[in-house]
Amino acid sequence: MISKKIPEGRKISWDFHFPAVFSLKHPKTKVALVEKTKIKIALLGVGNCSSSLVQGLQYYSQNMTEDGLISDVIGGYKVEDIEVVAAIDINKNKVGKDLSEAIFESPNNSIKFYDVESTGVIVQPGKTLDGVGKFLENKIDPVDDSCDVVELLKSSGAEILVNLLPVGSDEATKHYAQCSIDANVGFINCIPVFIARDKVWKKKFDDRSVPLVGDDIKSQVGATIVHRALAQLFSDRGVKLDHTYQLNVGGNMDFLNMLEEDRLETKRTSKTSSVASVANRGKGLDSNNVRIGPSDYVEWLKDKKKAFMRLEGKAFGGVPLNIEVQLEVQDSPNSAGVIIDAIRYMRFFTEKGDLQSLDLVSAWLMKAPSTPGKDSDLLDKLHDLTHGN
Ligand SMILES: NC(=O)c1ccc[n+]([C@@H]2O[C@H](COP(=O)([O-])OP(=O)(O)OC[C@H]3O[C@@H](n4cnc5c(N)ncnc54)[C@H](O)[C@@H]3O)[C@@H](O)[C@H]2O)c1
Repeated sequence: MISKKIPEGRKISWDFHFPAVFSLKHPKTKVALVEKTKIKIALLGVGNCSSSLVQGLQYYSQNMTEDGLISDVIGGYKVEDIEVVAAIDINKNKVGKDLSEAIFESPNNSIKFYDVESTGVIVQPGKTLDGVGKFLENKIDPVDDSCDVVELLKSSGAEILVNLLPVGSDEATKHYAQCSIDANVGFINCIPVFIARDKVWKKKFDDRSVPLVGDDIKSQVGATIVHRALAQLFSDRGVKLDHTYQLNVGGNMDFLNMLEEDRLETKRTSKTSSVASVANRGKGLDSNNVRIGPSDYVEWLKDKKKAFMRLEGKAFGGVPLNIEVQLEVQDSPNSAGVIIDAIRYMRFFTEKGDLQSLDLVSAWLMKAPSTPGKDSDLLDKLHDLTHGN
C-alpha cells in the first residue's frame, strides 16, 4: 500500500486505489479478507443540501473522475460506496415521492448539475416540531403524522443518519438524535444545534457507543474556511487581528429562515468560534471586534451565496494591515462535498472500533466541534490514521 503525505495547501487526492476488499486481523489466520459493504445512510431533511448530496452520489458513481472531491478515497471508501436507503421530510410536496423527484421540489432551488435516476427510496414523513420557522410558514405545508423513525432506521438498514434540518430546529434535532441512539445508528449533525459540542448529548452517544460527528458542517471552500485561513495567516505571520467581519447573503431557504434572529444564535456562535479559535495564536478577539453570520436574504440569488470578509490588523511596528475578500459560491454543493467525507470517516473509524477519532473528524469537517484544532494538524493526524497498516 502506498502512503502519500500531502503537502499543506495541495489538493488532497490519493493517487492510488484500495482494492475492493480490505484486510482485518483474524485470531486464527492472522489476516482475513472481508468484503467491503455499502455505507447505508438516511437523510433527515430533503432540502437543497440533500439535493446536492444525492446528485453528487450518482455523479461520482457514474463518472470516473475525482475532480471536485476533497478526498477521492478515505479508508478504502470511494463516493460510490455510499448509498441512501432512507429519507425523511415534513413537506407534503416531498413526502411520498421518490428521492430523485423530491430533491427538485419547491422550495428547493439549488443548482441541478446531474440528472438523478430513480432511487427507489420514498421520502417518509417526519415529526415537524420546530422545523418550520416563521418565514417559511407560507412555503411549507407540513404533514400531520410522523412515521416511526426508529423503526424506519432499523428496517432500512441505515447505519448513519445525516441531519440537514433548518437552522433553529432545536427540538426536532434532539428528537431525531434520540432516535439515532435508540436505533443504534451514527449521527452526523450538519447543523448548528449543539449535539457533539454539548457535554450531555455527547455523553449520551458515548455511553451507548453510537458514533457521532458534529456540529455544523464546514463548506468545501466556504466563507468559514477562507476566513479561518486568513485569521490563521495573520496569526502565523505575527499580525495582530484587531477587527473582523464576515457578512453573508443568499437566496435559498436557509437564508430566508435565518432572517429570524432568534433561530440564529447558535449559527453565529458556531461560525464566530470557528474563526476566533485560530485568531491571535488561539487567544481569539473580543466579541465587540468580530461580527460573523448570515446578513440578508436576496431572493434572486437563489442558492448562490456571497460572502464579504474584512480583517484589520497591526503588523510590524504596529503598522495597519488589512485584507478584504469577496467570495461567491453555490451554497449547497459546497456542503455536500464535505458531508461525503464525514460519512466515509464515520464508517472507517466505526469499523476500527475507534469512536474517539471521530472527534478529530468533527474538528476537521465541522464549524463547532467539541475539541477544535488547527486544520493542517488535524489533516495530518487523520491522514496518518487512515493510512496506517
Ligand atoms: N453550505 C451549506 O449549504 C451549509 C453549510 C453548513 C450548514 N448547513 C446547514 O444545513 C442545513 C440544511 O440546509 P439546506 O440548505 O438543505 O436547508 P433547506 O431549508 O433547503 O432544507 C431543510 C429541509 O428540512 C425539512 N424539514 C424541516 N423540518 C423538518 C423536520 N422536523 N423533520 C424532517 N424534515 C424537516 C424541510 O422541509 C426542508 O426540506 C441548514 O441547517 C444549513 O444551515 C448548510
